[in-house]
Amino acid sequence: MAVVGIDDLAIYVPRLYIDYKDFAEARGIDPQKLEYGIGIKKMAIADTNQDPACMAANACLKLMQKNHLHPQDIGRLYVATESALDESKALNSFVIGMLEQVYGEGTFEHAGGIECKFACVSGSYALHDNANWIRAEENNDKAAIVIVSDIAKYDIGSAGEYTQGAGSVALLIKENPRLMAFDPKVASTVIKNEYDFYRPFGKETPLVNGGYSNLLYLIQVRKAFDAYKEKALKTGLIKLKEGEAITDYIDLFSVHLPYRRMGEKALAYLLRHEWRHLPRWQHVIKEVGMDEPTPKDPRGTIESILADTQFMKADEQFRRGFMQTSFYNEVYERKMASSLEASTVIGNLYTASMYMGLRSLLEFEYKKGTDLTNKRIGFGSYGSGSSAMVFSGLIQPTYKDVVKDMDLDLEIGPRVKLSIEEYERLHRNERGFSDAVTNAQREFVLVKVGGSTADKAGFRQYSYVS
Ligand code: CAA
Repeated sequence: MAVVGIDDLAIYVPRLYIDYKDFAEARGIDPQKLEYGIGIKKMAIADTNQDPACMAANACLKLMQKNHLHPQDIGRLYVATESALDESKALNSFVIGMLEQVYGEGTFEHAGGIECKFACVSGSYALHDNANWIRAEENNDKAAIVIVSDIAKYDIGSAGEYTQGAGSVALLIKENPRLMAFDPKVASTVIKNEYDFYRPFGKETPLVNGGYSNLLYLIQVRKAFDAYKEKALKTGLIKLKEGEAITDYIDLFSVHLPYRRMGEKALAYLLRHEWRHLPRWQHVIKEVGMDEPTPKDPRGTIESILADTQFMKADEQFRRGFMQTSFYNEVYERKMASSLEASTVIGNLYTASMYMGLRSLLEFEYKKGTDLTNKRIGFGSYGSGSSAMVFSGLIQPTYKDVVKDMDLDLEIGPRVKLSIEEYERLHRNERGFSDAVTNAQREFVLVKVGGSTADKAGFRQYSYVS
């Protein structure tokens, strides 16, 4: 079977941001809650002339330019997003239109692709569908590009407001990739009809059941991980010896990151699940200083867990204690911390957040001097509504060619801090796209929505500013 995976990735992050201290002061929140309880210092905010389509095109253009790709090298261009611009017209069609402004009209005509939606997990489905398209040799020697692009926008004054952000990641999917090859036959999913987080038609901000969504994320990723484990053992990808956990064979973790702390909690939940039946658990318990609580209802459904307030309280206490142990912290520092750096200074990117986490993991592990050759990354992708996908990949010996030039600050460019008043004006859409805060440079921007006649309603026009 062909070796397929991620050859390279490029990012685009709007330069506007709000600072957590200003935000905390304006909302009367302790800044320590944002810095440590959530794990946010800067949230990227889209300018008036930026939307998920032009951010996606900007990330894609960077990816193509740095790899000297021509549209003829690309057979498929997918965009995964939960910030769709049209009920019918797919977001990737706007991106194709923008790219053809640079590469020439009709240069992508031979290619294909769609917009994908399933909250934050759809990018992972898109990656695997395209990897399988290449494995099936339907690709005529061409590569695929998957772009994940979103603006995470919550109501002013809501608990979600400090988990906002915006940005895109474009991923190049190829045979014999330089960066990471997907482990074959182990990608695993779960799916269930849920209302933890959703955005009805016509509504700009989501309706969220915060606590429920947090727990559902943990449960769904854990279930997908169980399915992954079964496949990894069955296919012989991982062989366990007595007393070992499958997480011992995952060298690095990259998970969905609505906010940094959620990643830390996801790792804790997974390790507890994998370790509690192993000999090492008694040493963990000793360090935590309390027994792990068990819910009254052994079925452990999300409803029964949430209704069991006594268990929830004790479990919170145990989870906090577990996250203080040397056992957790050793794994956290070695396998996850680097993937969370970008989230702290950019915020939530919905579909793009886990892939920005991957980008962060590679850059900051490289800067630490870690040799990543043949290291296995385990991915925990979650989308509200809800579905989770767990998969893994092996970092290739050629990864340094791609990673050595990665520099998050340089790639974002000089950032512009918004006052809370300016941010709120942008949030309420009070500034038109011709009144942008930043000056666009070598990027696509939105220049017009709608036309003079009714048949051009919703017609979006973009332009490349050189
Ligand atoms: N100093 C330090 N820490 C503090 C503090 C202080 N003064 N005050 C509070 N904290 C800590 C709390 O102890 C808590 O820490 P733990 O998680 O370790 O317990 C943390 O800050 C968060 O505080 P709260 O528990 O009070 O939570 P909140 O009311 O601020 O809400 C949230 C947090 C539920 C995530 C909310 O921001 C929200 O609804 N966000 C949107 C939904 C979301 O992101 N869900 C995640 C899963 S769903 C998903 O992932 C899809 C997606 O992208 C949306």
